Amino acid sequence: MKHNILLLITLFSISLSAQKGLKDYADFPIGSAISTWGYNRDTVSRDIHVREFNSITANNQMKMASIAREKGVYNFDPADQMVAFAEKYNQRLFGHALVWHSSTPAWLSEIENNPVALDSFMRDYIHKYVGRYKGKVDGWDVVNEAMNTAGPGWRETIWYKALGKEYVAKALRYAHEADPDAVLFVNDFNTERDTAKLHETLRMIKWLQSEKVPISGLGFQMHLRMDIPNETIEYALKKGAETGLMIHLSEVDIIFNTHDDTQGGGKQLYDDITPEMLAAQGKKYEDIVRIYRKVVPKSQQYGITFWGYSDRSSWINGFFKLKDWPTIYDANMQPKPAYEGFKRGLGK
Ligand code: XIL
Repeated sequence: MKHNILLLITLFSISLSAQKGLKDYADFPIGSAISTWGYNRDTVSRDIHVREFNSITANNQMKMASIAREKGVYNFDPADQMVAFAEKYNQRLFGHALVWHSSTPAWLSEIENNPVALDSFMRDYIHKYVGRYKGKVDGWDVVNEAMNTAGPGWRETIWYKALGKEYVAKALRYAHEADPDAVLFVNDFNTERDTAKLHETLRMIKWLQSEKVPISGLGFQMHLRMDIPNETIEYALKKGAETGLMIHLSEVDIIFNTHDDTQGGGKQLYDDITPEMLAAQGKKYEDIVRIYRKVVPKSQQYGITFWGYSDRSSWINGFFKLKDWPTIYDANMQPKPAYEGFKRGLGK
């Protein structure tokens, strides 16, 4: 009896892994943000992930507040777990994020008015962290969200206030010193729709390139809304690709409702989802992939990563206090029309 059950489980896993996933239809890596603890609890989600995708980004466990939570101590355990998962399941590991205003540990406020101390912490942190995972982490979001939420301006983070714009150049240089082969990104949100913000980002990239700073990637988070025009998105990706950098659609999801970009700032426009809305979302996913394939040259296609791939575990509902359906799998872990749309976008 026990043996029969074991045999059934083995056959089931073999048939699951033999099925093709989105990764098998794409010329570039396809990934999702994950938590290794989440996947340990929810093995159904984990197994579907392994079938569908070949890239992982940590949704939280590789951020500064997780690794450097206590002053003077680095806890690399959460990152080690990501590496172990990547190795076990043959996934590319993308590092997110080294420097991000939203994930600075509380103790850092002790040195926020001391540029020398802040710089020396950043240097040590990036050197030790990136150096430890040299050859294991393929690329990093070195600086996340350097620009203001809206419009053409830099975000006044503790790094910016202490070190000026130079903090971005420093972070990239430190990362390159620790792993010269890693692909080094700056990553931001709304740049696909806010043209003023896009242009400020492009100005920053031009400046970094003119200073020979080792930047090699530009990430568009792509937390999209159904009403963002395709033409605007296409323009942004085209301009991004003109920099010559690798282009990562790094945190893709598509919501129906809206929000004001702040935690809890959701605005509920739709309480229920209809078949028409699901079909329209499928078309939008298809359009995004087609635009990416059309305007980003093959050699610059770093890949497409979902910020969670199921409505069961998407961050949107909790973070913005919304009821929404932003992803390609529904809450029962069934593929949505969005899944088929994404696949069509890949030309399959
Ligand atoms: C989000 C996580 O998904 C949430 O669990 C956390 O509460 C806040 O951060 N842009 C980013 C990601 O670059 O790191 C954010 O992740 C989502 C927005």
